[in-house]
Amino acid sequence: MSSPDTEFISINNPPSGGGDTTLITRAGGKTLPTVLPILGLSDVVIFPGMVSPLLVETAASIRLIDDVVAGDRFLGLVLQRKPDAENPLPEELWDHGCAVRVLKMLKFPDNTVRVLVEGLRRFRIVHYETQEPYLRARIELTRDTLDESIELTALTRNVQRQFQEIVNLSPTMSDEVKVAILNTEHPGKLTDLIAANLNLNLEERQRLLENPSVKERLNRLLPLLSRELEVLTLGSKIQKEVASSMSKSQRDFFLREQLRVIQRELGETDPLMSDVNALREQLATLHLPEEAKKVALKELDRLQQIPPTTPEHTVTRNYLDWIVNLPWSKSTEDKIDLDAAARLLDEHHYGLAKVKDRLLEFLAVIKLRRHLKGPILCLVGPPGVGKTSLGKSVADTLGRKFARISLGGMRDEAEIRGHRRTYVGALPGRIIQSLRRAESNNPVILLDEVDKVGADFRGDPAAALLEVLDPQQNNTFTDNYLDLPFDLSRVLFITTANWLEPIHAALRDRLEVIELPSYTAAEKLQIAKRFLVPRQLEENGLPNGRVRLPDATLKRVIQDYTREAGVRQLERVIASLARKAARKLVNGRGTSRMIDIKPQSLADLLGPAQFVPETAEAITECGVATGLAWNPVGGDILFIEASRMPGSGKLLLTGSLGDVMKESAQTALTFLRSQSKLPGLDLTDFDKHDIHIHVPAGATPKDGPSAGVTIVAALASLFSQRRVRSDVAMTGEISLRGRVLPVGGVKEKVLAASRAGIRQVIVPEENRKDWGEIPPEVRARTKVHFVRRIADVFPLVLRPR
Ligand SMILES: Nc1ncnc2c1ncn2[C@@H]1O[C@H](COP(=O)(O)OP(=O)(O)OP(=O)(O)O)[C@@H](O)[C@H]1O
Ligand SMILES: [Mg+2]
Repeated sequence: MSSPDTEFISINNPPSGGGDTTLITRAGGKTLPTVLPILGLSDVVIFPGMVSPLLVETAASIRLIDDVVAGDRFLGLVLQRKPDAENPLPEELWDHGCAVRVLKMLKFPDNTVRVLVEGLRRFRIVHYETQEPYLRARIELTRDTLDESIELTALTRNVQRQFQEIVNLSPTMSDEVKVAILNTEHPGKLTDLIAANLNLNLEERQRLLENPSVKERLNRLLPLLSRELEVLTLGSKIQKEVASSMSKSQRDFFLREQLRVIQRELGETDPLMSDVNALREQLATLHLPEEAKKVALKELDRLQQIPPTTPEHTVTRNYLDWIVNLPWSKSTEDKIDLDAAARLLDEHHYGLAKVKDRLLEFLAVIKLRRHLKGPILCLVGPPGVGKTSLGKSVADTLGRKFARISLGGMRDEAEIRGHRRTYVGALPGRIIQSLRRAESNNPVILLDEVDKVGADFRGDPAAALLEVLDPQQNNTFTDNYLDLPFDLSRVLFITTANWLEPIHAALRDRLEVIELPSYTAAEKLQIAKRFLVPRQLEENGLPNGRVRLPDATLKRVIQDYTREAGVRQLERVIASLARKAARKLVNGRGTSRMIDIKPQSLADLLGPAQFVPETAEAITECGVATGLAWNPVGGDILFIEASRMPGSGKLLLTGSLGDVMKESAQTALTFLRSQSKLPGLDLTDFDKHDIHIHVPAGATPKDGPSAGVTIVAALASLFSQRRVRSDVAMTGEISLRGRVLPVGGVKEKVLAASRAGIRQVIVPEENRKDWGEIPPEVRARTKVHFVRRIADVFPLVLRPR
């Protein structure tokens, strides 16, 4: 038998309580018999005065109930020692139990029976009379022992008070129990009521049932009550804390709103209002364009409406912050003193005379036409020739603020134009950001590396750039975040690029190109002496004069360690030498004397030379010729190799050659075959041989028509078995009829040849005009041959057999 769910209780729940006598009376005036049917309980202890539902399941127990209900309705309930025994034996039951009367019985279709019982009296089992069909035992009723004393009264009150507190804290205790507790004065019944309703385990309950001494029962209950009380207090404390933390933000919100109202009532300024007022004042002094002003005021009104704790408030506040802090009407005064400008440019950059002239012309135009709308400067040249730093110098000479935006690798249009405000964490694009930082609406903005903007699915930054740079429309440049036009027409944009090719055609059209050439060794030496060395010594904390880098050392560094167009690598190597010297100084060695970095010590300091002197590259075989190439990082020399093997007249081309280069190889071969009259060339048996042309450094893609002359020379060398001279390098496009056509990048190519130690160059006649561009020192060192026809090339390059 076990206790079923609580639904049953509510069906019939007569008031509990009542003394021994009333029990007997309610039992219909009958006295309890001394022999009772005994039912084992698996999970409940019934106390006198307690009304409880029970579930009866086993056949034997149902039979017992049937008999009891048919008779006087009395039976004894005893707790099982083992809860899972179905039909417990006498030894599986405790010795004490509670005599009950069945108030009601309900049979269920699933063959179970539910009964409602009322506890009457404690008893002790004397002995079992029968076991079949169910247990019957002779019992002895036990009486509560009560010694009326002050101590008992005190104990009772204490227990009652504690239980009262528990009832108040416990969310699950029923109202009946609350009423019963207030109306129970008899200490014995009080203990039973508590024992039945307190959260106790079965054994604790059974011990309370067995004990006839009320005082002992009270004493046993006290610690149990205080334990329960403690648990409940803690539980309710936890709950309160959880509840209070949940409502804190809501409470804060209401309190803050109330505070605002109170402050307004008191005539005090609330922080939001003072913030709004401050913004309003700022706006008034700003001279915003009409449209911007309207939008700003509207946003300001909105700001007043939105509670300060919402994210929306922050978004609006930030937006207004951007508007207020943009230099709508703030600009710097240009100082255009051309002499001072020229001096400043010279102070920062060595050489570059032509470039500086162009820049000064540009400044003069700005001076004449205050509001310059028009060409955008584009400084083009190989890496490290000073494009970026020259751009900065222009800002300095004009006395304007300077901002640099690196476009290298930029793929997202939003970087230029910003994100809409609806994006989380949205910001204006880089142009507007730079203007805010510059705090002026006419700064110099250097758009670095325009040739390296990319495009992908997030839009095309080049298109956005076009709008930024177009003088026709950039006075109403609209950033996505601001969503307001901002006038960019007073900004001086300067762009830089390594080469013009990849730049968007429409953009390239707008650019006023100024080319920066690569430096000659002599120029590099001067730049190093005047700028790089002093700067690096200072940056590495080396006091003036303590470390010396003589010219011979610098020359060796330029020649053997840094063969480049610009001076970036050179500066890096100088920095490395400076660090090594600094270490030497700190180590104490050489503290008293000067450190002189000699050319001989370079191998120790920097390792072996990176570039081998030209003699090592001397041509020792037929079929090889030296050409000149040009790419964004400057000029370079390259070798073209040709060889012939038995085959069927095929032409093989390797070395990552582009289509144009392949075609010029084809042209070269066709030309040679058509020139069978040429003396000394063995042009027989073409269809019995394959020809292979290879350009080493195969991993680097190469293209362009300018290798034509070199390919012809390599093939002519192969067919005539005469070696090409090692000290000659050549460039030029060829035509089928044997003409040599002009090519680009002659200056870079000749500078590269000179860097590589080449003494003679072959250049198309039509490139003669470019020769003047080449620094005189290089011209003095290099012998040039201008050629019109391929036939002119052979006597110049082929050695006698
Ligand atoms: N003529 C020069 N006089 C003095 N210093 C120079 C000169 N040319 C270049 N430099 C210095 O060389 C360094 C590299 O120059 P910068 O960064 O301007 O090169 P860049 O042309 O912008 O190269 P990249 O194309 O790689 O961006 C800078 O420290 C610069 O000051
Ligand atoms: Mg740069």
